Amino acid sequence: MLSGETNLLPQAELRALLETYGNNDTQLFFPHPRVGIATNFHDRAGATRRGAFIRYGGQLIAIYSSKRFAEKYSMNDVLGPRQSFAVRVVSLSGTVDTGQWERVLGENLKRSNPNSIVNLDSPEELILGILYGDILLVSKSVVDMSSRQWRSRRPSERPFFHPSALEPKFGCALVNLSRIRTDQWLLDPFCGTGSILMEANRLGIQSIGIDIAGKMVRGTLVNLRSFNLQSCGVVHADSTQPPVCGVDAVVTDLPYGRSSSTIGRSTEDLALDFINRLPEVLRSGGHACIVHPSELNLESLGEIELQEQYQVRVHKRLTRTISIFKNVGISS
Ligand SMILES: C[S@@+](CC[C@H](N)C(=O)[O-])C[C@H]1O[C@@H](n2cnc3c(N)ncnc32)[C@H](O)[C@@H]1O
Repeated sequence: MLSGETNLLPQAELRALLETYGNNDTQLFFPHPRVGIATNFHDRAGATRRGAFIRYGGQLIAIYSSKRFAEKYSMNDVLGPRQSFAVRVVSLSGTVDTGQWERVLGENLKRSNPNSIVNLDSPEELILGILYGDILLVSKSVVDMSSRQWRSRRPSERPFFHPSALEPKFGCALVNLSRIRTDQWLLDPFCGTGSILMEANRLGIQSIGIDIAGKMVRGTLVNLRSFNLQSCGVVHADSTQPPVCGVDAVVTDLPYGRSSSTIGRSTEDLALDFINRLPEVLRSGGHACIVHPSELNLESLGEIELQEQYQVRVHKRLTRTISIFKNVGISS
């Protein structure tokens, strides 16, 4: 189940995570905008823990008609002998007495699995019911991601602050959209205060940042150290001539002049110069996830193929585009 953002980013992130962790047979359906069902997908916990917009991840048991659930269905063999469990129900449409539904579902589970034990504080199994329309979707082995500590890494909480800094949740989603795995290398060529590097590092991804401003390079290092995120290098350089090649993913937020310096160049020039270097910087098959002003129209450039684009509101008065490219060139 995805969190309630109104744009398409949560679905896009889930799709990207399934591409990263799934196999050729993995398929994804969205029976509701906030519910994704994947088939032939095995690393559910890994994907759930990474997803910035994933609220709950679990194993689907069944999809019921909510109208007839109480009298009609039985949930045998959902729980093991003497296994403890708790039930949570969320409603995605209309005002519903979810407490009443938790009782109905709990009673059904107890009746169908008589040796199981209700334990609301530390259950071995968390059972989740999701209600929408007249559907009740039930899953088990549920991981609840609602208590993640985004707040402690917000720009205002970091020792080095700059108004261009991204929110950690957004930075984490960008990393995931790049389809990078934890054993790979990520580059942020315009790293600023290090928001993207921090999120990549937190997920166990090794990363390199580049910034043309010495102050930003030093600030990024201070931020990374203060959160004990060390598996990362930061280089003082011009990213239109990047001193790096063959990384697995590029994730970045382009400078756009007002609050982040472009050192006298237009964002468009910087973007095009950098994208021109992508065939060397990004390995074949790797993705580049680039946030840029919506007025800037980025397109495929040779083997750097534009694959997806999303519009997002970064904050109240600022809309940005996320463009995702893939290096479709054949590796040399
Ligand atoms: C929008 S900010 C990045 C903000 C960053 N995502 C964060 O959350 O802190 C863009 C950064 O690009 C840097 N920059 C501008 N021109 C550059 C260039 N040619 N090469 C490398 N960095 C550059 C600026 O100094 C600025 O720190």
